[in-house]
Amino acid sequence: MPKVKFQNTGEEAEAEKGADLMEVTKNQGWPIAYGCEDGMCGTCIVKIIEGKENLNPLDEKEKQTLDVMGMDDGEHRLACQCKVNGDIVIEGM
Ligand code: FES
Repeated sequence: MPKVKFQNTGEEAEAEKGADLMEVTKNQGWPIAYGCEDGMCGTCIVKIIEGKENLNPLDEKEKQTLDVMGMDDGEHRLACQCKVNGDIVIEGM
């Protein structure tokens, strides 16, 4: 099972392959703020420290929101739009 590590605290969680990153972080109680839960508000932005290739590709909506925030740099994702397909390390902002 893919592992998700929360760099801020060093905590780790196992996730089903294809799990919603939002659900994983909520289940763990990690302090990531969710607003719209739909890729529009940007509050759930996280930095992907490792394993960005293990997430689903950005869709147009997520890309647009990151672009508006000036964070479409390949390093940041919106947790509410991410599916976990392999090991990742994330950092809350
Ligand atoms: S919660 Fe709004 S973009 Fe993720």
